[in-house]
Amino acid sequence: MLTQQEIINQTAEHVKHLLTGEGSGHDWWHILRVWNNAKTIAANEKADQYIVELAALLHDIGDHKFHNGDETVGPRMAAEWLSGLQVQQEVITHITTIIKELSFKGAGTTSEMSSLEGCIVQDADRLDAIGAIGIARTFAYGGHKNREMYNPEIAPVLHDSFEAYKNSTAPTINHFYEKLLLLKDRMHTNTAKTMATQRHQFMETYLQQFFAEWEVATC
Ligand code: ADP
Ligand code: NI
Repeated sequence: MLTQQEIINQTAEHVKHLLTGEGSGHDWWHILRVWNNAKTIAANEKADQYIVELAALLHDIGDHKFHNGDETVGPRMAAEWLSGLQVQQEVITHITTIIKELSFKGAGTTSEMSSLEGCIVQDADRLDAIGAIGIARTFAYGGHKNREMYNPEIAPVLHDSFEAYKNSTAPTINHFYEKLLLLKDRMHTNTAKTMATQRHQFMETYLQQFFAEWEVATC
C-alpha cells in the first residue's frame, strides 16, 4: 500500500510526463503553479490537503478543449490513474467530481463547486488564468488555436451556455471580457481574492496600453 505522499509524488511524475512541452499554456509548469497556489490557499482553510493536491495535479489531463469538447475524458483518465495506485473509490469520486465541475463554462452561466476542496482548486486554477502569466497563457492558447489576436469588428459575447462558450472561435482579446476580467469576483476563498486583486489590476493596465497602441496605429 502506497502512502498518501507517495501517491502525490507518483501522480506529479505522471502528469509531468504527460504535459511537459505542451504549447497552449496547459503545460507542466501550469500544473506546478496551480498545485502550489492550491497548497498556499489550503493552508488557510480546513480542507483535505490530499484531495486538494491530487485534484490540482490531475485537473488538466484530458481537458475537453483538447478532446473535441468531450468533458468525460479528463475525469476518466484521472480515475484510471488513481485506480491503478489502489486509491479508495471515495477519494477517486471526490477528485473526478472536482475535475468535472472545475472548468469555466461561460460568463452568463453559474457553476457551483460542491466541496471546499473543489473551491480551492478552482481558485488556484483561476489565479493562473489572470495577471501577467494569465495574459501570456491566453495569447499562447489563441496562437495554438490559430485565432486572431484582436479584431475590432468582433465584439465579446457573454456566453449563457457551456456549448456556446466552448464553440467560440473569437479573437483572443475577447477572452479577457468573456472570462479573465470576471474571475476576480468569482473567487471563493479570501486568500485567492487577495492574490487576485493585483493580478486583475495588471490586466486592466495591460488592456489600456494595448488599446492605446492600437488607436495610434489604426486611426
Ligand atoms: P478552464 O478549465 O477554466 O478553461 P484552464 O486551466 O483549462 O481553465 O485554462 C484555461 C485557459 O486557457 C484560459 O485561462 C486561457 O488562458 C486559455 N483559454 C481558454 N479558452 C480560451 C480562448 N477562447 N481564448 C484564449 N485563451 C483561452
Ligand atoms: Ni488549469
